[in-house]
Amino acid sequence: MVYESKHPLVKHKLTLLRSASTKPKKFRELVRELALLLCYEATADLQTTPIEVETPMGNAAGQELSEKIGLVPVLRAGLGMVNGIWEMMPGAEVWHIGFYRDERTLKPVSYYNKLPTSPTVQVCLVLDPMLATGGSAKATIDILKNWGAARIKYVGLLAAPEGIAALRQAHPDVPIHVAQIDSRLNEIGFIVPGLGDAGDRLFGTA
Ligand code: PRP
Repeated sequence: MVYESKHPLVKHKLTLLRSASTKPKKFRELVRELALLLCYEATADLQTTPIEVETPMGNAAGQELSEKIGLVPVLRAGLGMVNGIWEMMPGAEVWHIGFYRDERTLKPVSYYNKLPTSPTVQVCLVLDPMLATGGSAKATIDILKNWGAARIKYVGLLAAPEGIAALRQAHPDVPIHVAQIDSRLNEIGFIVPGLGDAGDRLFGTA
């Protein structure tokens, strides 16, 4: 399933994020806020266990999250999406996966993976602002599936139709949550109209 957010706050913040006049500090704030909003939507089906809690007035029936969550940012740009979500789910584990895209072939090149041998979480949220060709997301999810992750969701900000199609074909069981699906990829593999290079804009390295 592909979920493109309809939330007005997401649309508003995404528009600010796209603007070439948005500086890295503001860009980081917006990525953090958008990640939180999208994560809120993407986690609507997390499982809970009924528990009782004692209030000052008596007992109340409540619920607690019963699944262990893993946040999996794809380096570098995915890092910008971690902190907001982590504040909301402080018990989540964060597992970093490093890929950069070869500028010539557009294929993802792996450079960091320190996952332990067996999975320690039940639900993995793959975090990466940009789904362009879909190569990085597909490769990250390949790794997580080989690791034994039971349930995986992709949470991104912008996607190209090409990336959505590639990811759906490779991993039809992985729901895709994005703020918006743009028109296309250009000849150098950038999303159009997009927002430029998310990693460079986050880290001020443009
Ligand atoms: C960007 C982006 C994704 C990837 C998307 O990373 O953050 O990880 O490209 O492209 P794809 O869908 O075609 O694989 P980049 O390689 O620029 O690295 P960075 O995050 O370190 O800047």
